[in-house]
Amino acid sequence: MDKDALKLAPSILAADFARLGEQVAEAERAGADRIHIDVMDGHFVPNLSMGVPVVQSLRRVTRLPLEIHLMILDPDFFLDDFTKAGSDSFLVHWEGNNNLHRTIQHIRTLGKRAGVAINPATPASVLEEILGDVDQVLVMTVNPGFGNQRFIHTTLPKIRRVRQMIDQNKPGCDLEVDGGIDANTAPLAVDAGANVLVAGSAIFNASEGVAGAMKRLQRCVLAG
Ligand code: DX5
Ligand code: ZN
Repeated sequence: MDKDALKLAPSILAADFARLGEQVAEAERAGADRIHIDVMDGHFVPNLSMGVPVVQSLRRVTRLPLEIHLMILDPDFFLDDFTKAGSDSFLVHWEGNNNLHRTIQHIRTLGKRAGVAINPATPASVLEEILGDVDQVLVMTVNPGFGNQRFIHTTLPKIRRVRQMIDQNKPGCDLEVDGGIDANTAPLAVDAGANVLVAGSAIFNASEGVAGAMKRLQRCVLAG
């Protein structure tokens, strides 16, 4: 894969929240494509994270697109507020959404990029009828809810399958992976067909710093 085709989406869940603006600025200078913001409600996933005020604050310090990964019940209730705060795209889960098509149309009405996310136990086939309506697919490579978990290797055949579906039916749709992405697993995910890497701890908890960690991720993928 060439350098321009690979996109990095640092996930701020692993950032130092006391220095969030600085860390996002560093990621921007180092060539991040977008900032990935994980929103959790303690119900859809067994954890809490952040909400609209964080997006509002970050909107003032970065020009990068802000991508909102909604791990919440009833995502529709929050789309308007997140949009007003400055969000650029939304990833909503297939799981637990009885009206996914409506949610995706809502995002489109707001003029934002729409993506659908699937958990490790969810088959690629559920994407068939919604792929035509989305700009991105997110294949979770861990069970959502926490940072710094181990990459689930059995998701690799699914990533390949989604890549085939995209190439055949929706060329240009981004294929993102999220969870346990580091210098060892990134090349496997890219080889399977991912073109957007979400990474939290591999970027924000790295001893070499944000920029060094991003360069390392890029290098290990481009060397393959
Ligand atoms: C997990 C979140 C991820 C998380 C990834 O539910 O969706 O975006 O921040 O963290 P790492 O890269 O540390 O596995
Ligand atoms: Zn995420």
